[in-house]
Amino acid sequence: MGYLDPAPTLAEALVRTAPIRDRLSSVIPPVEWPAFAEDVAAIQDLKRRRNAVILAHNYQTPEIYHGVADVVGDSLALARKATETTADVIVLAGVHFMAETAKLLNPEKTVLIPDSAAGCSLASSITAEDVRLLRAAHPGVPVVTYVNTSAAVKAESDICCTSANARRVVESLGVPKVIMLPDEYLAKNVAAETRVEILAWRGHCEVHERFGAAEVRALRAAHPGLVVLAHPECMPEVVAEADYAGSTAGMSSYVARERPARVVLLTECSMSDNVAVENPGVEFIRPCNLCPHMKRISLGKIRSALETMSGEVTIPSDIAARARLAVQRMLDIA
Ligand code: 13P
Ligand code: SF4
Repeated sequence: MGYLDPAPTLAEALVRTAPIRDRLSSVIPPVEWPAFAEDVAAIQDLKRRRNAVILAHNYQTPEIYHGVADVVGDSLALARKATETTADVIVLAGVHFMAETAKLLNPEKTVLIPDSAAGCSLASSITAEDVRLLRAAHPGVPVVTYVNTSAAVKAESDICCTSANARRVVESLGVPKVIMLPDEYLAKNVAAETRVEILAWRGHCEVHERFGAAEVRALRAAHPGLVVLAHPECMPEVVAEADYAGSTAGMSSYVARERPARVVLLTECSMSDNVAVENPGVEFIRPCNLCPHMKRISLGKIRSALETMSGEVTIPSDIAARARLAVQRMLDIA
């Protein structure tokens, strides 16, 4: 099924979306707005028609994040909000594991991902069979699994975590040792803060592993007074150079709360754009890395998913039941 009513014309769309264009003028030159206006207006109409909600990760581009999303946030917030919506359809503007998590928590709803090839280097670093082998090698040691994994990997896990709650989740188990997968650096960053022994996997985020400690020192030398915020998927030596490390929502809250004069976010590029819109007056220094998976999502693909109801996420029921338990255990404690 496509549009039942005619789609908005460019002229109508420009009028309707003018407040969004003005709000985003610091990160999208107004002269470029006509390229986005029709899709933004059409998506707003389609959301009403489909009783759909758009959950967008903090790494989505500003025209998605500020233009059409109903809920924005880090992986934990998106998972939480997915449990609260009354919509019939959830469009996940983010990567595949996020859409799977939304589906796990809403088995009765239709969950769409605008591009099903939007993966994640961490999620593709480990399989369910790897987890079974790890368990056999370390009998009795609980498995804490980062949400950046497939539902099949979550299904083999005791509990999930995100970068926002990893330490709390690890310590909630009350055991001296855990297996934490698949992000080696997140595991090491958590290990530095807890007495729990952590056995790590060797997965890495292809975006965050590219930041280096020498780069951070050079940035500080070039930009006096610079405040450095890092995502915990960065290497421990990078986190050690930062003033603060936390999830994408943690970094965003830090900027809103502390209002540093100059800040660099060692994370995906769109984060700085999105946070800059909400914090005029803060200077953002921009070495950043693009996530090619997050960048697969566009307004055009969101519109098309809602028009044709394509990109539906499905999870085999036996896997879903076990994976849901691991996600729910996380939501219950943190
Ligand atoms: P957050 O949970 O901090 O948003 O991180 C998700 C992610 O994919 C970071 O690369
Ligand atoms: Fe995965 Fe890294 Fe992209 Fe996040 S930024 S989705 S961890 S590849």
